[in-house]
Amino acid sequence: MTKKAWGGRFSGEALDWVEEFNASIHFDKVLLDLDIKGSIAHADMLAECGIITQEDRKIIVDGLHKVKEEADKGNIDWDVTHEDIHMNIEHALTEIVGPVGGKLHTGRSRNDQIATDMHLYVKAQVEEIIQSIEALQKTIIKIAEENLHVIMPGYTHLQRAQPILFSHHMMAYFWMFNRDRARMQDALKRIDVSPLGAGAISGTTFNIDREMTQDALGFSDLYHNSMDAVSDRDYIIETLSNINLVMIHMSRISEEIIFWMSEEAKFVTLSDTFTTGSSMMPQKKNPDMAELIRGKTGRTTGALMSMLMLVKGLPLTYNKDMQEDKEGLFDAVTTVRGALKIMNGMIDTMTVNEERLEQTINEDFSNATELADYLVEKDVPFREAHEVVGKLVLKCINSNQYLKDLTIEEFKEANSLIEADIYDVLSPQTVVDRRVSYGGTATEAVKQQIELAKTLI
Ligand code: ARG
Repeated sequence: MTKKAWGGRFSGEALDWVEEFNASIHFDKVLLDLDIKGSIAHADMLAECGIITQEDRKIIVDGLHKVKEEADKGNIDWDVTHEDIHMNIEHALTEIVGPVGGKLHTGRSRNDQIATDMHLYVKAQVEEIIQSIEALQKTIIKIAEENLHVIMPGYTHLQRAQPILFSHHMMAYFWMFNRDRARMQDALKRIDVSPLGAGAISGTTFNIDREMTQDALGFSDLYHNSMDAVSDRDYIIETLSNINLVMIHMSRISEEIIFWMSEEAKFVTLSDTFTTGSSMMPQKKNPDMAELIRGKTGRTTGALMSMLMLVKGLPLTYNKDMQEDKEGLFDAVTTVRGALKIMNGMIDTMTVNEERLEQTINEDFSNATELADYLVEKDVPFREAHEVVGKLVLKCINSNQYLKDLTIEEFKEANSLIEADIYDVLSPQTVVDRRVSYGGTATEAVKQQIELAKTLI
C-alpha cells in the first residue's frame, strides 16, 4: 500500500473504490501550475521568516519546478491514493528531493492551500472572461455602426410593436454585457484576497508573514479571519452568478438570432462557419451554435444551483463537501468562455438582410402609434385617436392593405384633420427618426449612444 501523507494514525486497510470516491485528482489537476506557484511563495516566505533554511528552500523550490516540468511532459502518474493535487505534488516532490520536501507543508494546511489555488484560479479566469466580454462588445459596436441605416420591426409579446434601428436592437445587448463586465470587475475585489496562512482553521504558531505571500501571489488584500479564509466560497457563488447572467444574456440574443434566421423572418443570415447542415434534409442550414449557447445556459445555471446548495447550512470551517465546488465551476468557466468566443464570431460574420427587412417594415402596422400621435398633435384626445386608428387598422386588415396604402379620402373619412403629410409621417424612417428622446431609436440618438459606448471599452 502506498504511504499516505496523513497515514500516521491509521492502521486499517484502504480500499481502492473508497479512495476513488474520496479523490479529486481527476479534476483538480488543472490547478497544478497555481498550486506550485502558491507553494513557491509559501516556501520563500518560510525561509525569509527563518522557519526553514535558505538551503532547504532552494531544494524545495527547484524540486517544485522539476515537478512541473515532469508533469508537463506527462511523466507524473496522478494517483487517487494521494487524493488531490496538493498531496500528489507533495508526493512527487519528495520522490525528487527526498524527506526535505516534507518541510514545505510547515505552517500550512490543505485548507488554506486549496482556498489559495481557487482564488488564483477564479481571479485569472474572471480576468479572461472580462476580456472576452469586452471583445464581444466591440463586435456589437462594429455591427451597429455598419448597419445604422437598417430599420427592423421592434417587438413586444413577439408581436410587431414599433419600427426600430437594427443598431438600436444590437446596442441593447452592448449595455447588458457592459453590466456583466462591471459585475465581474466588482467581484474581483472579493476574489483578489489571500487566504494563505490561515492554516487549517485557526492560523499557525509559526511566525509566518501573510503579507509576504499575499504580495508574492499578487493578491490585493488578505482575509482578516482565518476561519472565514478557509470557509468562504462566496466568491465562487458570485462568479457563477455573474457567469450565469452573461449566459442568460447570450441565450436571449441566441434566441433572437434563431428567430431572425428562420425562413419566416429571414432578417439575418449566419455565416456557414457558425451553422451546420442536416444529415437528411439537404436544404437545411441550422443555427446550432446559437441553440447550443441557449442550451448550455441550463448547464451553467445547474452549476450555480449546486454551489448554492453545497454551501447552504455548511458549518464552519472546512468540510469535505467543499471539494465539490470545483467541477461545476470549471465547467461553467469553460462553457462561458467558449460561448463568448462563438457569440463574437457569429455576430461578426452575420449578414443583415437589408432588403428583406425593408420589405418587412413596410408591410406591417408598426407605424400605427405614429398615426395616433399625429392626431394627438392636432388636439385629438389620445383615447379617441387610438379608436380612430384601431378602426383604420381593422379596415386595412379586412381589405388586405396597410395604412400607407389608404387614400387621403379614406384617411379624411376617418378623421378630417388628417392631411397629405401623413404619408411621410408613416414612413418607417420618419417614425424611427422622430424618436429623438435620450436613449431612443432615432439615428442621431443611436449615434450618440454608440459614441458613449465607445468611451466605455
Ligand atoms: N481536495 C480538497 C478540496 O478540494 C483539498 C482540501 C482538503 N482538506 C482536507 N482537510 N481534507 O477541497
